[in-house]
Amino acid sequence: MRKLSIGAEAVVYADDSRKTVEKQRLPKNYRIKELDDRLRLHRMRREAKVIESLQKLGIPVPKLISSDEKTATITMQLIEGKKIRDVLDCSNYKGICGEIGKCVGIMHRNNIIHGDLTTSNIIHSSHDGKIFFVDFGLSLFSNKEEDKAVDLHLFRQALNSSHNRVANECFAAAIAAYKEANSSGWKNVLNRLGKVEGRGRNKGKGKD
Ligand SMILES: Nc1ncnc2c1ncn2[C@@H]1O[C@H](COP(=O)(O)OP(=O)(O)OP(=O)(O)O)[C@@H](O)[C@H]1O
Ligand SMILES: [Mg+2]
Repeated sequence: MRKLSIGAEAVVYADDSRKTVEKQRLPKNYRIKELDDRLRLHRMRREAKVIESLQKLGIPVPKLISSDEKTATITMQLIEGKKIRDVLDCSNYKGICGEIGKCVGIMHRNNIIHGDLTTSNIIHSSHDGKIFFVDFGLSLFSNKEEDKAVDLHLFRQALNSSHNRVANECFAAAIAAYKEANSSGWKNVLNRLGKVEGRGRNKGKGKD
């Protein structure tokens, strides 16, 4: 097993011969044990459930192979490729962001919120150039415009901080595709996005 990443919550291993990935949520001793056990299990179950729901909707996600509640581990298909973060600036960034926007539009239309929509949580497949979404431990099922707007806001922030040169064009391409995919909901979500981002700008100025 090859260690792919050690995150704040999970360790991710790849098995290159089986073409699988294990995402293991390790116990955190700074949290009370009962609380930690519950949280790890909750996030693992949520991740498995969201992956299955998205698969049914035709959103590109790794296939879920199994989940083990005792060790809070899920096993899924290995997506061979690179994080979008590492390829976006020097590839077809508008095409990639259009694809991301389309998929997020379908997720939101179905009331699924990614919860951590950054360019580290989307993989560019080295086989066919398709994109795959990962990291659903913070996902939620919600029909609230606020939750959907926060997803888009996180994505914009990720673009601004890691891909400043192309961020505006990328976000515009994502939003154009998002509107098409979420044709009945986009207006309210983008309205709310304006408010979410206005709140951020006015922080500390005594306004809301
Ligand atoms: N199925 C997969 N195939 C290939 N690489 C993967 C797969 N799942 C995760 N990875 C890689 O491992 C990294 C970490 O995975 P992930 O984002 O799911 O965990 P994390 O951010 O540590 O977890 P969390 O945010 O839930 O605490 C990803 O950025 C990605 O590069
Ligand atoms: Mg991640």
